[in-house]
Amino acid sequence: RWTTSSIVDETVQAIRDRVGDRRAICALSGGVDSAVAAALVQRAIGDQLTCVFVDHGLLRAGERAQVERDFVAATGVNLVTVDATEQFVGALEGVADPEEKRKIIGREFIRTFERTARDLVNRGDGDVDFLVQGTLYPDVVESGGGSGAANIKSHHNVGGLPDDLQFSLVEPLRALFKDEVRRVGLELGLPETIVYRQPFPGPGLAIRIIGAVTADRLETLRAADAIAREELGAAGLDREIWQCPVVLLADVRSVGVQGDGRTYGHPVVLRPVSSEDAMTADWTRLPYDVLERISTRITNEVSEVNRVTLDVTSKPPGTIEWE
Ligand code: XMP
Repeated sequence: RWTTSSIVDETVQAIRDRVGDRRAICALSGGVDSAVAAALVQRAIGDQLTCVFVDHGLLRAGERAQVERDFVAATGVNLVTVDATEQFVGALEGVADPEEKRKIIGREFIRTFERTARDLVNRGDGDVDFLVQGTLYPDVVESGGGSGAANIKSHHNVGGLPDDLQFSLVEPLRALFKDEVRRVGLELGLPETIVYRQPFPGPGLAIRIIGAVTADRLETLRAADAIAREELGAAGLDREIWQCPVVLLADVRSVGVQGDGRTYGHPVVLRPVSSEDAMTADWTRLPYDVLERISTRITNEVSEVNRVTLDVTSKPPGTIEWE
């Protein structure tokens, strides 16, 4: 019978058998999946694992600090943080197509891991043979890897991998759904701030800017997102909603009025969803007063945004993210 502790024991043993005394790096995103994958692999091979957190400039406010603080405190892993904002934002310049964005980000992630692995070798840590990723079963299915499934979108860690990848992949969560991953995380002793963190996609804010990614647009979206998260948290709704992407319609402008003046700014979309496993989702009926506070604060505090809209589409037909 599959209990959480038997999943942990068998996975840890399988990782040990496969990796032996060789070295691995783990792509840490700040999200629950990669955190649980890293904690499992660390239990299996200890110091032969180095975690790599890539700050690609597409993160939300405060995320990097949270990984550097909470995750390291909970696990004691070796963590290397890589500053790669210019690399990623540069590679995305002028790109508006969602699949192209995802593939570019997947490719830049891999380049960054390869570079980091070389750095680790150079400092005398020994060759890195394995790359650990927190790929889940739904990621595989939606990227077209499951039996008979269409390619809905290329999850950055599945559809964006190069053919000449220099690592063997270790994906200990590949058969699991999110709720199972959370149980494994608790079993491994990870804190609730990590285990119950709402999902955030690896390609980050890049796939929540509809249009090309620029530093200014990232800053606008980051500010709007921080307000939405703050208000949802203050209203005690964090656990009730699966996640609430804030999407910037960067290529759309709308006329508004503020004081006596005309504004010509951008709309953002709130996309609160309820879900069990992200395969299907319903839009969350957020209380009107919470929506009002979010809307008022975003339009007051983020000068480029003059309109806040609500996405009331379930999945299907809409996916959770807009791209
Ligand atoms: P969709 O938009 O396909 O999203 O309904 C389902 C869940 O997956 C997350 N998501 C991703 N996560 N890399 C990730 O790590 C990705 O490329 C990616 N795309 C979507 C999304 O936030 C939602 O939770």
